[in-house]
Amino acid sequence: MKDPYSLITGLRVVRSYLPDPIPDDVVHKILDAGRWAGSSKNTQRWAFVVLRDEASRLDLAKCGNFTVPLQRATLGVALVKLPEGYDFDIGRAAQNMMLAAAALGVGSCPITLHDEACAKRTLGVPEDHGCRYAIAFGYPDMEAERQLRARRTLPGGRKPFDEVVHEGRFRADASGG
Ligand SMILES: Cc1cc2nc3c(=O)[nH]c(=O)nc-3n(C[C@H](O)[C@H](O)[C@H](O)COP(=O)(O)O)c2cc1C
Repeated sequence: MKDPYSLITGLRVVRSYLPDPIPDDVVHKILDAGRWAGSSKNTQRWAFVVLRDEASRLDLAKCGNFTVPLQRATLGVALVKLPEGYDFDIGRAAQNMMLAAAALGVGSCPITLHDEACAKRTLGVPEDHGCRYAIAFGYPDMEAERQLRARRTLPGGRKPFDEVVHEGRFRADASGG
């Protein structure tokens, strides 16, 4: 098992999954890691909709533009933002789940639900709630993943440390933005 620091810096999205189902106790641990994320004033303005069957994942996948991982996954979790919730908090819960999953050998990929109205309709989420993101989970199919990564067009890796980290004051010349 990786040490916690390597798990954090080494977390890469996985978009190819084996058909093996994720056992219920592992699913529970992943969700519980999300539940234990910190939130603004500890308001926990979130709910996690668990999609265990393929039909429900395929339905939700119609609500985004790059949802192939959700179609291939063996588990989906939609992140619902309750009224007055914050995207920052939703992101923390999501990252907790993804890191916990990685610690348990499960791969994951965030999924944007570009058509949020579609996502809310599909899942029965009320109008004044948000549902912009989901996470696809599954045991990694590393051979398929290697082939997928070899074909990828997006740049991999990360920006250099000095471009991202600004000491004391923002440096517009270094930000690349
Ligand atoms: C907010 C957010 C939304 C994302 N939406 C999608 C998506 O809809 N489909 C997808 O395949 N990947 C999605 N990703 C995954 C990113 O493409 C991925 O995090 C990025 O390429 C870095 O990958 P790496 O950590 O493996 O280097 C999303 C990531 C984030 C953080």
